Amino acid sequence: MDYKKIIAERLKENLNLELKDIERIIEIPPKSDMGDYAFPCFQLAKIYKKAPNIIASELKEKIDNKYFEKIENLGPYLNFFVDKSIFAKDTLNKILSEGDSYGKSSVGNGKNVVIEFSSPNIAKPFHVGHLFSTAIGNSLYKMMSSQGYNCTRINHLGDWGTQFGKLICAYKLWCDEEALKKDPIKELLRIYVKFHEEAEKDPSLEDKGRMYFKKLEDGNKEEVELWKKFKDMSLEKFNKVYEELGVEFDSYAGESFYTDKMDSVIEEIDKCGLLKESNGAKVVMLDDYNMPPCIIRKSDGATIYATRDLAAAIYRKKTYDFDKCIYVVGMDQSLHFKQVFTTLKLMGKNWADSCKHVGFGLVKFANKKLSTRKGDVIFLEDLLDRSVETTLKIIKEKNPKLESKTEVAKKIGIGAIIFTYLKNNRERDIIFDWDEMLSFDGETGPYVQYSYARGKSIIRKAGDFDREMNYIDINSFEEFNLVKILSEFNLHVLNAINKLEPFMVTRYVIEVAKAFNKFYNSCSILNTEDDNTRNFRLNLVEASCQVIKNALNLLGIQVVEKM
Ligand code: ARG
Repeated sequence: MDYKKIIAERLKENLNLELKDIERIIEIPPKSDMGDYAFPCFQLAKIYKKAPNIIASELKEKIDNKYFEKIENLGPYLNFFVDKSIFAKDTLNKILSEGDSYGKSSVGNGKNVVIEFSSPNIAKPFHVGHLFSTAIGNSLYKMMSSQGYNCTRINHLGDWGTQFGKLICAYKLWCDEEALKKDPIKELLRIYVKFHEEAEKDPSLEDKGRMYFKKLEDGNKEEVELWKKFKDMSLEKFNKVYEELGVEFDSYAGESFYTDKMDSVIEEIDKCGLLKESNGAKVVMLDDYNMPPCIIRKSDGATIYATRDLAAAIYRKKTYDFDKCIYVVGMDQSLHFKQVFTTLKLMGKNWADSCKHVGFGLVKFANKKLSTRKGDVIFLEDLLDRSVETTLKIIKEKNPKLESKTEVAKKIGIGAIIFTYLKNNRERDIIFDWDEMLSFDGETGPYVQYSYARGKSIIRKAGDFDREMNYIDINSFEEFNLVKILSEFNLHVLNAINKLEPFMVTRYVIEVAKAFNKFYNSCSILNTEDDNTRNFRLNLVEASCQVIKNALNLLGIQVVEKM
């Protein structure tokens, strides 16, 4: 039952307004003693030339309260209290019949969205910042697709640039093939770091690096083959991570994809009269916007990061005709994206405003151990492995008889990390604290997953029960509060999409788990005397599990039936 619609229809009988407009005015009050829905009469004052509280009290006398426990008038408001039993029955029926589709809508139908996320650099470790981007991007993808948006996931690989000239040079000088086979990224990182150390003593190495990059850009066979080898090795590693996380992409068009698409972009910038000389380099001046110039071509003729981003944006617009293009990249690149988007705008691309940089904060560790590795990079595998191992240990202690412990530990351990990433406003720095993150109580992934598994265990114990519910009296706050929260799922998904903030769904699922546990602790379920009540409560458990599952799924986290 769509209560907003019912209220709007009923009000329309007494008001001279469009149904849609009435619906838009209806609010959900912040506190339950102000009803489940409220209709403020401020906007009507102008139309009826009466004080809002008089309009409200007159309306109250006129409208019929079918489906509502009561309708109250408080000052300029009409407060609607739904009939709890009808509301609960309706909500649970909707959740249980829609199942995995509960929470979906079609508000995004017909809109194309490009979501760029993850985007690690080849021959370098996939680090905790890339995982942050991956978690946010993947969940935005899931949320937006669930609302009907047509989304394309792009992994803008860092697979081009002068650093590959240096890497080729380092490879020729120092690479240990055995080590490369065993752990390619580690070995490539080692020789890359060595290159920088050696280049301090012998600056001629820098020239060699530049020469190799030039050869690579010119398509010289040997260099291209080496670059390909590095890329394939890296992708193999990255794909293992994606597999473990359950993340997929529609395109891996990274920086190298744009090598042959840049000349025409540079030409276009020039035609717009934007290309200026500056110390031998070609730049777009952005003084008027209080930004340093956007460098398009370096003095040695090489193109750079920003040029590739300009080409990428133009290509994406042409290929995907996006309504929105989202870049999930750390906030340390905010200036870069402002420069790129402003340059696009100066080029007359009126769609530049639909490019959005979705930034995020830094990743820190409460326990320093992980962050002191050489080069100060935190290897992602260390993070994932450690989380899964620790979870396995906890499970072994808590539930030694559990089957397929390793599989369960994987879902919970990885889920705990994703949950930590998506728990707060994305611009806030993240602090990984192992004890907190893996705790089974508190606002954590394992806590939410445990609530789900607990619900499922009740359902298993209950055996057969009737999915049809009779009219029952709901007398506890805990039951109705839970039903109410379950009914609001879609609203939270839409809010998260609106703000591009996945944490709004994380917060929501925490609220569901909390309300579920309160209900579980205060109402007996399996031992209830009255059949109707037992039945209703079991359906409420089932519906809570369904909503937890659907919400976690939007975050990219899988549930386990037992833990
Ligand atoms: N590869 C870059 C990095 O690791 C992130 C790429 C961001 N996306 C972009 N379109 N510039 O820092």
